[in-house]
Amino acid sequence: MTSHPPLIRLNNISFSYPGRGMVLDHINLEINRGERIGLVGPNGSGKTTLFHIIMGLLKPTSGSIKIFGKEMKTDKDFKETYKKVGLLFQDADDQLFCPTVMEDVAFGPLNLGRSKDEAKAIARKTLAKLGIADFESRITHRLSGGEKRLVALATVLSMEPEVLLLDEPSTGLDENTKKTLIDVLNRLELSYILISHEIEFMSKITDAMYMMENGKIRTDVDVGQYTHSHPNPGHHHH
Ligand SMILES: Nc1ncnc2c1ncn2[C@@H]1O[C@H](COP(=O)(O)OP(=O)(O)O)[C@@H](O)[C@H]1O
Ligand SMILES: [Mg+2]
Repeated sequence: MTSHPPLIRLNNISFSYPGRGMVLDHINLEINRGERIGLVGPNGSGKTTLFHIIMGLLKPTSGSIKIFGKEMKTDKDFKETYKKVGLLFQDADDQLFCPTVMEDVAFGPLNLGRSKDEAKAIARKTLAKLGIADFESRITHRLSGGEKRLVALATVLSMEPEVLLLDEPSTGLDENTKKTLIDVLNRLELSYILISHEIEFMSKITDAMYMMENGKIRTDVDVGQYTHSHPNPGHHHH
């Protein structure tokens, strides 16, 4: 159908932390524009590690990564991709480092060369989209876990990425906030890979769910095949 290369393509990626067994064992995975993939797997199965490999925060022991069709080799390659690939860290405290919410959410756009006013406007728009417009003057480190989670997502979305990596985005969210998150993710026409323990939550915002176990991803089995039987009508593939 499309002549576009996959947004992300992992080819035979293996990884082990120094002095430890293999965490990722010859992983092949690709995500194309409009796809929303869920990854489930037990604690310690290497899900977070996989995201860090994709972002270039860890170097694979073997294998290659192509992002937008370009092979990632140097730190400079990865730096360029940070602009288009957004990672929501598993721990929001790894993402938030400014005194106020506004500064945190405007940081990305400023860094991408937007003017102060533009960055502020983007930040406001993004916070409004997440239903937290009134957070802008709040002190980031005083927010609750769930509030931090949403602000962290806002910092990622404000950079207008083409593909998202979401590491357990529902952690610490109450039911209402979870609903907001589901609505937002379904309304944004974004491509993403999402990690979660909550299959029910995940099935509402992904089109396929794969199991990660023993360093491998079984992409031949959609573990959400039953829960995915009612596709979200609000989401359109490109
Ligand atoms: N920095 C590290 N050094 C050594 N081992 C690590 C490090 N980070 C994670 N691990 C180990 O690698 C495995 C995979 O971890 P992780 O990717 O965080 O799994 P998941 O996100 O699926 O819970 C676990 O056994 C974990 O203990
Ligand atoms: Mg993890």
